[in-house]
Amino acid sequence: MASEKLFSRERQTNIFLGSLRGKNRTIPVSFDKLREAAKKKMSKETYAYIAGSAGREVTKKSNRTDFNQWKITPRMLNDVSECNTEVSLFGQRYPVPFLLAPIGVLDMAHPDADLAVAKASAEENVPFVFSSQASVDMEACSSVMGDSPRWFQLYWSTSNDLVESFVRRAELCGCEAIVLTLDTTMLGWRPSDLDLDYLPFLRGRGIAQYTSDPVFRELMNTSLGDADEPPKLTWNSIKALIKMAKNYPGGFWSNLVSEDPRRAVKTFIECYSRPSLTWDDLSFLRSLTDLPILLKGILNTNDARKAIERNMDGIIVSNHGGRQVDGAVSAIEALSDISKEVNGDIPILMDSGIRSGSDMFKAIALGADAVLLGRPYTYALAIAGKQGVQEVIQNYRADFELTMALSGCRSVDEINVDRLQSV
Ligand SMILES: Cc1cc2nc3c(=O)[nH]c(=O)nc-3n(C[C@H](O)[C@H](O)[C@H](O)COP(=O)(O)O)c2cc1C
Repeated sequence: MASEKLFSRERQTNIFLGSLRGKNRTIPVSFDKLREAAKKKMSKETYAYIAGSAGREVTKKSNRTDFNQWKITPRMLNDVSECNTEVSLFGQRYPVPFLLAPIGVLDMAHPDADLAVAKASAEENVPFVFSSQASVDMEACSSVMGDSPRWFQLYWSTSNDLVESFVRRAELCGCEAIVLTLDTTMLGWRPSDLDLDYLPFLRGRGIAQYTSDPVFRELMNTSLGDADEPPKLTWNSIKALIKMAKNYPGGFWSNLVSEDPRRAVKTFIECYSRPSLTWDDLSFLRSLTDLPILLKGILNTNDARKAIERNMDGIIVSNHGGRQVDGAVSAIEALSDISKEVNGDIPILMDSGIRSGSDMFKAIALGADAVLLGRPYTYALAIAGKQGVQEVIQNYRADFELTMALSGCRSVDEINVDRLQSV
């Protein structure tokens, strides 16, 4: 039977028959139920950090609602008994047109954090983009991934030596591309975090790439990292010191009496990102590596053009899930003009608001070569660790494949703007 060749049919059958065979799945399929189930597992600080966005969250909402400006027009009788969801990016073939987005501080979602995601992504052969703000360093994540694909996301530090060190380490870890995130030279104004007075980095969370880095460790010992006066001892400052000691490499008790955890946080705050960055700085990064470099956070056609002129290999149309500039254009709305401007010169990826196979289909039809999945896998991680992330990958893969097949497309190349109509 030809239809048995479809991954999506098998996934549906596994889900429908799973409970009869005594196999329970660990996560809900619907995105809203997934988020609600994750919320129940999370502290209020964690949920605020992961679900929250900038300002009044208008952009976060339009990242979703703007998908409705496009409708799919399915075509019939095309023999879709076999469908190929593979895509090629930078000379590598990937089984599906989506990657796992860089998400910082994953230990807030689950104690296995990045390691669980690394293992799940490796088993499903879907690339994982390691975050600069990871809870587990890239060497540890790579060590559990075998030959499966991984990329590295970079925040450009005030120290170019640190930038170089991160890139070298990413190369040694087998990363296949560098994603330079441009939209977070400063943290956006996020009321949900501000109202809880909670920023994980100040507790030493999400800085594992830094504390494991030789250049960063040196910076800690220079004037940049001088620890200032010890903080006044209050209940909150004691809790913060304990967290810092827990999150710093080495033994908890020795960390508790050492200045290093506090010094690391202070050094991180001073060097994590560089608001003075300009287009001219990109030549430095270009000179460091032959790996493909993608610019993440592009929302404007002129910026897309500049990326090509500066010899960048790809762009990611993204507004960081609405976490940076509230009122910014939604990623799906920006995509269509940007893809006309780029006109196939370099690959375009897109994220911010992808919640279904249909969203993926629309993004690809509007010119994306692939998309990134963000919050959905983070919620799955919170609910069920590695197993949850694997299931969410399988669900998105099945949903995408079915949307493609039922719309009459046998391969990703066949998905183009003619498959959509605008509202
Ligand atoms: C909790 C959280 C942490 C994130 N951390 C990073 C990060 O470290 N680096 C980065 O480039 N983007 C980061 N992002 C942005 C994602 O890579 C991606 O652009 C975003 O999640 C897309 O929006 P969506 O998840 O709503 O679809 C983060 C997003 C969230 C929700």
